[in-house]
Amino acid sequence: MKKLIAGNWKMNGLAAAAAEIEALGAKLTEADRAKADVLVCPPATLVSVLEPKARAAGIALGGQDCHEKECGAHTGCISAEMLADAGATYVIVGHSERRADFGETDAAVKAKAEAAQRAGLMPIVCVGETRDEREAGRAEAVVRGQLEGSLPEGEFVVAYEPVWAIGTGLVPEEADIAAMHRLMREVAGPGVRLLYGGSVKPANAKAILGLDDVDGALVGGASLKAEDFYGIISAA
Ligand code: 13P
Repeated sequence: MKKLIAGNWKMNGLAAAAAEIEALGAKLTEADRAKADVLVCPPATLVSVLEPKARAAGIALGGQDCHEKECGAHTGCISAEMLADAGATYVIVGHSERRADFGETDAAVKAKAEAAQRAGLMPIVCVGETRDEREAGRAEAVVRGQLEGSLPEGEFVVAYEPVWAIGTGLVPEEADIAAMHRLMREVAGPGVRLLYGGSVKPANAKAILGLDDVDGALVGGASLKAEDFYGIISAA
């Protein structure tokens, strides 16, 4: 399966970040593009700002969250249709930071994934256990439960992001990543792209992306600078 290398900028980036998209586009070779699809999920305010440069560079854009409804009285929220209108083709749903900070349940995440599909966006559904859950030997049960509760019918991407590996520099043992991706393959089925996320860097990307059933990466901190992000893309 062709890899998907996705950057999640989280709450980082002003209009000047268009220079990073341009710099990344300048680095991408035909060989890179043949091996990996490249996606950047900037703050929603930047999707339409970055769209011309991203299109020219062959880089897809995505949102980081969407509301389940198309429109209405939901102050401060952004619908999947709005993201699509701004130029996005993907949207992340159920990131652990959304689950933790905003109490998003599996049912809410599934509704957002379905909203994404309704708008013609590819949802990237995030799952992952906390450190306590892993230490208690419950990681696979927790992730299985999140998958069963959050995945929509139809087409989607899944990202396994252990909460304790996000932004910490900690990465699970390769065998643990592989075991979780085997489980995700069993639940999600063949043909679904399965991403790993959590402290992916240029230095560890090749080993992680070489594991069975790892079809790409969801990258936070290392996606903010074109040079680091390109290091991960070229590892694919
Ligand atoms: P880091 O790559 O900064 O650990 O973040 C991972 C992540 O949360 C991507 O969605």
